[in-house]
Amino acid sequence: MATFTVNGHTVTANQNQKLLRFLRDTLRLTSVKDGCSEGACGTCTVLIDGKPTRACIPQTDKLEGKQILTVEGLTEFEQEVFT
Ligand code: FES
Repeated sequence: MATFTVNGHTVTANQNQKLLRFLRDTLRLTSVKDGCSEGACGTCTVLIDGKPTRACIPQTDKLEGKQILTVEGLTEFEQEVFT
């Protein structure tokens, strides 16, 4: 179990799983795409503490206290500029 923030909201992952699965299946944040599931394509990239990270790699139990940002957490202006 780990507690961390996603797009400014505090969340708790009760079962250890890949961050990609937690974001898509539990939080329904579908901007995080599942391309290869093995860290090769980058379609699952999110920011963890400001660092671009492939969400299909880290397990949620390793994310205690981290801050995660997905496209859904960007401002409207940022979404227009960067997507
Ligand atoms: S799904 Fe391809 S790098 Fe994560």
